[in-house]
Amino acid sequence: MVKRIDEVMPRIAFGGDYNPEQWDESVWLEDAKLMQEAGVNLVSVAIFSWSVLEREEGKLDFSWLDRVLDILHDHGVGVSLATATASPPAWLSKEYPEVLAVQENGVPYQIGSRQHYSPNSKRFRYAVKQLVKEMANRYKDHSALKMWHINNEYGCHLAECYSDESLSAFREWLKNRYQTIENLNQKWGTNFWSQRYNEWDEIQFPVNLPTFYNPSQKLDYKRFMNDAIFDLYKIEKEVLREITPDIPVFTNFMYEFKPLNYFGWAKEMDLVTWDSYPDPREGKPYRHAMHHDLMRSLKNGQPFYLMEQVTSHVNWRDINLTKKPGEMRLWSYSTVARGGDGVMYFQWRQGKAGAEKFHGAMVPHSNDPNSRVYQEVKQLGNELKQLDGLAGARGTAKVAIVFDWENWWAVEHEGKPHNRLSYLDQVYQYYRSFYEKNIAVDFVEPNGNLADYQFVVAPMLYMIRDGEENNLEQFVKNGGTLIVSFFSGIADEQDHIHLGGYPAPLRSLLGLTVEEFAPMADDEINTIVANGEKFTVNTWADIIKLEGAKAIATFKENWYQDNPAVTIHRYGQGSSIYVGTNPSDDYLDQLISGILQQLEVSAPLDAPKDVEIAERVTNDKRYLFIINHNTDPVTIALKEGVVYQDCLQGKQVSQTITVQNTDVAILVY
Ligand code: GLA
Ligand code: GLA
Repeated sequence: MVKRIDEVMPRIAFGGDYNPEQWDESVWLEDAKLMQEAGVNLVSVAIFSWSVLEREEGKLDFSWLDRVLDILHDHGVGVSLATATASPPAWLSKEYPEVLAVQENGVPYQIGSRQHYSPNSKRFRYAVKQLVKEMANRYKDHSALKMWHINNEYGCHLAECYSDESLSAFREWLKNRYQTIENLNQKWGTNFWSQRYNEWDEIQFPVNLPTFYNPSQKLDYKRFMNDAIFDLYKIEKEVLREITPDIPVFTNFMYEFKPLNYFGWAKEMDLVTWDSYPDPREGKPYRHAMHHDLMRSLKNGQPFYLMEQVTSHVNWRDINLTKKPGEMRLWSYSTVARGGDGVMYFQWRQGKAGAEKFHGAMVPHSNDPNSRVYQEVKQLGNELKQLDGLAGARGTAKVAIVFDWENWWAVEHEGKPHNRLSYLDQVYQYYRSFYEKNIAVDFVEPNGNLADYQFVVAPMLYMIRDGEENNLEQFVKNGGTLIVSFFSGIADEQDHIHLGGYPAPLRSLLGLTVEEFAPMADDEINTIVANGEKFTVNTWADIIKLEGAKAIATFKENWYQDNPAVTIHRYGQGSSIYVGTNPSDDYLDQLISGILQQLEVSAPLDAPKDVEIAERVTNDKRYLFIINHNTDPVTIALKEGVVYQDCLQGKQVSQTITVQNTDVAILVY
């Protein structure tokens, strides 16, 4: 039986990617000492070391890695051991060129960077399997081994491949899905533009086309590539499970990453981990906060690890701003507050050579233990030791946002009424309103369990698969409040229109139909009037016909003036609200505040702007995080009559607390 993460790592994990193969052995001991001093208890080793481990086909040299693991273990540092498959060695693609991924134009990628493999290459899959077997057998009994880090950021640089082998695999995938070519023709709507197929081998990739692609075909290509890369992960997982059945396995996810359906992937991972690199130019990283919440939601609220962040600055943006003093620490606490049980970095020691040598690290080029960066790392690492009992604690959300990867793929296909709609931007818009009010939010799939929530928002849920509407209906019937925003319920699983009046599957739930869409020009705005107050809207207007719902806001201008813009419909014990336009933040804030008030859903504490508050709970304790993103101190009223223990200050507090600028308080009660 696989061990629980909080069994393996009972404390908050702290550490980073460690690449000792890039350093002389004399540095390793110094590394381990510095790690110990900084409170490091976990490092990810061997992520990019395939070509060092296996210098020639089948000739493995583990001696250096043996020594590294021994040294780490002797210094109390656990290892998240990578399977080393993230980037294949030169000899592999020289000997077997078919392992190389191929670009749209038919040109293969080459060795010299990383991740140039084709996920569909059988030879690559074989080589991966062999290497993982060797790794697992070698280290299955090593006491430093805590967990397996499979590959690295799947699909990061390359989530599509157009090789011959990929094409055969695509056709096989389609055969499996559709069984007969006639069924495929139906499901792809191929009578359109004379696209009918007689044989499977007539099917090509949806690229290099004179004009618009077939959206059903494109959607299936995305599904296929997701599945192909996922299969590659599962091949590794299977080997590891067989040889080390009790060691947790995972791979690391990314930010705003569209190609992989992480809800599906998370089901095959023992731990969700992800890599977060907010751009300091954006200020307070609320979008990253959303991704923390999403990552926590992927396994029904199970805490995640932040597997990579940077101490100071990355090197892959046009201009790489450095985090100001205290920001790295503060943002790390935001991670922990939102369900992070691990705070890890890329990377331990700043590189000497290669494309990432200017990327920040825990130990900078200067190697100076008094450097600001290392000092901040050390402070955080040692503080996190004071959060005993927190690992495993869960969130408290009563609000959920529906999120769906396939919807993301489909709604952003070309050929739409408005072709600059961004699914993520729509989600962010609603999320921001909750975030700024310090209202905890989970994310759920359209068919996910909504029973624990009082308030659900489904932004731009364009695709609704058969029956998913029932889940939303049931939620509202049982007393829930639902917001659905424009361009929802339009297409089915194949990206074909749900006929019967937009949004057909949601018409009875919402009590309306949308007769027409009226997208707005770039500089066009309109006004909506709600309770006599006016708010700006842009981007989109639905021409709504009420069928039981009532308007709570109407358009003020244009040919659809006085028509409903936002509606509410009593349904069973609950209400469904439809937002048929893209309203300004102040309107959404007002709408959402009103609903929260009615539902008596509130933040853990009242707080001034830019003070982030979140709670995590265990069976008998509540951990309250007060994170001050302001440049001035704030004083906050605590709950009447409660005496809290301040974890970082080691003293009791009650009534009020003052939190310094760019600082945090963690109170347990
Ligand atoms: C990704 C990768 C790391 C490293 C960092 C740099 O997250 O997983 O190997 O390249 O980016 O930011
Ligand atoms: C052209 C083509 C039609 C159709 C329209 C759409 O006129 O001839 O087949 O694609 O564009 O506007």
